[in-house]
Amino acid sequence: MRLDRFISKHTHHSHGTSRYLVASGRVRVNGVVVRDLRTEVDHFVAIRLDDTLLQHQVAHYLMLHKPVGYLSATTDPVHPTVLELAPPQLRPLLHIGGRLDRSTSGLLILTNDGLWSRRLTEPKLRVPKVYHVRTAHPISPETHQRFAEGIYLAYENLTTSPAQLEQLADCEARLTIYEGRYHQVKRMFTAVGNRIVALHRERMGAIALDTALPVGAYRVLNVTEIESVA
Ligand code: URA
Repeated sequence: MRLDRFISKHTHHSHGTSRYLVASGRVRVNGVVVRDLRTEVDHFVAIRLDDTLLQHQVAHYLMLHKPVGYLSATTDPVHPTVLELAPPQLRPLLHIGGRLDRSTSGLLILTNDGLWSRRLTEPKLRVPKVYHVRTAHPISPETHQRFAEGIYLAYENLTTSPAQLEQLADCEARLTIYEGRYHQVKRMFTAVGNRIVALHRERMGAIALDTALPVGAYRVLNVTEIESVA
C-alpha cells in the first residue's frame, strides 16, 4: 500500500492531509523520515506519525521438521496439529506455507507473512519442491518419462509441470515437482500404477530442511533463506 493511503486509512486524516503530513516529513518508516508519497509499505514495517506508532508488526518465518501423524492444520479435535509444535505465543499468528499430508514428514514452513508464503507456494511461480519417496513396488522404467511429460490430474483438469525423478533404489527416489496440488506426489505415483509408502519433503526452493533439526523441532529461518523467496 502507498504510504499516503496508509496514513489516511489508519488515522482520522483525509487523504489530502495525509499527503501533506508525509510530504512535510512527519512520517517515519522504520525510524527514517520518508517524504515520497508513493513509497510502498507492507505489514512488517514500523510506521510513525509524529510520536504515534501506527503500525509495528514483526514478521516470523520458521521451518519445522514435521513428524508423521501431525495434521497441517491450526486445530483439530482428533489429531495433533503442526501448530502445536510452534512456540505458543506465535501460534495465533502463524499459517502454513505449503501443507503436507498427515502421513508425510519433512520441511514445513510457518509464517505470518502471507505475501511471502504465497510466493513460495503459488503453483504459477513453479518453485521446486523436492521429496524423498519410498514406493510399495519397484519404480517402473517409464515412470521417469511419464513424470517428465506431466501427469494429467482429472479433478483439476490439468497436467502437472514436468517433474524430475532421480532413482535411488528399486523402491526409492527423489522427486522434484513445481506445484503443490492436493496429494500431488501420491496421485502421480498412483497414475503409474505404484503407491507411496513414505514421503518426506526435503526442500522448497532454496530452503532445505536443516539436517540438524530433530523431528518435531523448529528453527527460525535465516536472512538468506527468507530473501531467497523473491
Ligand atoms: N504430495 C503428496 O501427495 N502429499 C504431500 O504431503 C505432499 C505432496
